[in-house]
Amino acid sequence: MYDVMRTTAAVREFTGDPLPDNVLDRILDNARFAPSGGNRQGVRVIVIRDGRTRSALTDLALPGARRYIAQLANGESPWNPLQPSAVDVTTIQATEPPPQMSAPLREAPVVLVICLDLAVVAATDQELDRIGVISGASVYPFVWNVLLAARNEGYGGVLTTMVVPEEPRVKQLLGVPESYAIAAVVPLGKPTHEVTKLRRRPVAQFVTRERFDGAPFHG
Ligand SMILES: Cc1cc2nc3c(=O)[nH]c(=O)nc-3n(C[C@H](O)[C@H](O)[C@H](O)COP(=O)(O)O)c2cc1C
Repeated sequence: MYDVMRTTAAVREFTGDPLPDNVLDRILDNARFAPSGGNRQGVRVIVIRDGRTRSALTDLALPGARRYIAQLANGESPWNPLQPSAVDVTTIQATEPPPQMSAPLREAPVVLVICLDLAVVAATDQELDRIGVISGASVYPFVWNVLLAARNEGYGGVLTTMVVPEEPRVKQLLGVPESYAIAAVVPLGKPTHEVTKLRRRPVAQFVTRERFDGAPFHG
């Protein structure tokens, strides 16, 4: 278990191997045990194999990816709501995202579009004067379970969100009802190579005792 947690990396390059429906069914059948607020289970998944739909999703991810890369090149924290961007529209439109940002949706044998039913989430932060984060907690444990289960079956993938700025067009493309949000788009397939070392901060750098400004936590 610990080994899996420490080595499940973002997979963006896939071999041409298929991911059969029966394997995908096992992945989803285990991932469904993820927690959600009040156990309301507002997750909906669309399994996309059609090349034209995957290609359309790739195109819809482009504007978001252009802005992400343009902001990164300008030393900004991409898509951060607290830091207004100084990058102009012309620069964004002229920015070409790297292939690893678009290729996965086009080349994976299967792409999952994961939606969240906003009609059942309990957004306990909705009246605060900041962007919401609580609703996402009812869907991302499921998404992570999918990636862990895929790993268990010898497959891999990556949680992507670049289509979300174009959510209205994504919903129109896939017939998603008004009350649902697009939470993630997850390409899945056989990884071309295995990553064994993930770069993450050590515990003492982000865990403190008793208060936010407390002593760094060491076991
Ligand atoms: C909320 C969220 C959104 C993400 N969006 C994207 C994305 O749009 N495109 C992408 O290629 N990766 C995306 N990622 C994957 C991250 O880049 C990846 O998890 C991180 O860089 C760590 O990669 P590693 O596990 O290979 O070290 C996203 C991850 C999360 C958790």
